Amino acid sequence: MASAAQSRAPTPVPEAARARSWARSPSAHEALEAHYAANPGTRPNHPHPWDTSRSDIYAENRWEPIFKEMRAEGPLHYIPESPYGPYWSVVGHKAIQHTEALPEIFSSSWEYGGITILERLADVPLEERMELPMFIAMDRPKHTGQRKTVAPAFTPAEMKRLEGEIRQRTGECLDALPRGETFDWVNTVSIPLTTGMLAILFDFPWEDRDLLTHWSDWSGDTELASVRALDDVRRGMLREMAAYFQMLWAERAQRGEAPDLISRMIHSPAMNQMDPQEFMGNLVLLIVGGNDTTRNTMSGIVHALDRFPDQRKLFEENAELIPNAVQECIRYQTPLKHMRRTCTQDTELFGQNIAEGDKVILWYNSANRDESVFENAEKLDITRENARRHIAFGYGIHRCVGARLAELQLRVLMEEMHKRRLRVDVTGDVQRVRANFVEGFRKLEVEVTRF
Ligand code: HEM
Repeated sequence: MASAAQSRAPTPVPEAARARSWARSPSAHEALEAHYAANPGTRPNHPHPWDTSRSDIYAENRWEPIFKEMRAEGPLHYIPESPYGPYWSVVGHKAIQHTEALPEIFSSSWEYGGITILERLADVPLEERMELPMFIAMDRPKHTGQRKTVAPAFTPAEMKRLEGEIRQRTGECLDALPRGETFDWVNTVSIPLTTGMLAILFDFPWEDRDLLTHWSDWSGDTELASVRALDDVRRGMLREMAAYFQMLWAERAQRGEAPDLISRMIHSPAMNQMDPQEFMGNLVLLIVGGNDTTRNTMSGIVHALDRFPDQRKLFEENAELIPNAVQECIRYQTPLKHMRRTCTQDTELFGQNIAEGDKVILWYNSANRDESVFENAEKLDITRENARRHIAFGYGIHRCVGARLAELQLRVLMEEMHKRRLRVDVTGDVQRVRANFVEGFRKLEVEVTRF
């Protein structure tokens, strides 16, 4: 029988578009490191001890005590100085939910500043800013209409429809793993499974699916986006991506209604109000949203189970714990560290005066370690009764629209690992992502055995 991957009939892509896409830019990480190597002394400076926008604390995994200290002093703190300008840090679980429940006061709109800590480049003309409008960075009512366009792709019925293919691809990937040797779990499992899933969701040309990972890495890195010297490379990458998706758009518009996400967006009534920039922005949102996040939890599960052998034993002995283990691993991993809001009017928040225009950073990584909600929060506990209260998917009107798909992919991965009695030991190099937005692993060298 043909495998799920082999049986996907590739969508034809004109040769000209393919040639353009494969002449692609360097990886986001390579570009940033090459820039710092060529320009010594230009790495951002973070003098404030509580400025958690610094990426080294994440690359070196020493962020937990800093947030713990902040939470002990209160749920909200003003950071007067950072390479991204001054900002409020919201570090408590309850305080983040409270802030997200007031979207009129705490805006997500890109017109105020969007959803990451990045400063708006006020001195740069709009057309040069490379800010793509996407509904995660819109307020009501526009947000509501555009979210409705993609939400039907993530209903429980759609998840049921996708589960068989996800299970088959996951099983094939695990069956092909090398035995008796060390290999990189990120490149061998996490990236192929998440990129393949997105390719299915978009009906993206199968043989070009690596581009989704490449574009996602470029689009989701806040530090890279703040290095103006790399603007030209970034612009080139965005142009390359835009050309590719425009080509797919034209093809889907001709093809008529189909279940893939691009066709759904084109043929939905809300699309009539979406200009090409918004269309592109929302595609980038789905690529980054579905890629960097789930991918890193797939690595995070393996890393966390290796780090907490008692929990790995529980997992190996009790397959019925898997649904809760998925929630706990998402809490523990928290693939997106922050979202940003901008205050639209002078207001008070947990005893502090926030002024109109102030930048408010919601640190989900800290909320998911909040001791007032999660006992022994720094420990992985797959039997944790309230693991579901994690806030890794956000809260309120912007809560992750793809959460069910992420949960499905992660549950299937754990179930298929369990079925095959796969134990994954971390045996080699571990490199974490150096970023203040995405949390995850660039490399995770492992060896698999049977339990
Ligand atoms: C929004 C996390 C997987 C698509 C969000 C938000 C977070 C998040 C924190 C913002 C919530 C807020 O502002 O309150 C995650 C995590 C994932 C994941 C941790 C995996 C473990 C996915 C997947 C997709 C996706 C698989 C789609 C393929 C989106 C979209 C939004 C979003 C479109 C915008 C929703 C809106 O503004 O209404 N996600 N995500 N995400 N996510 Fe995810």
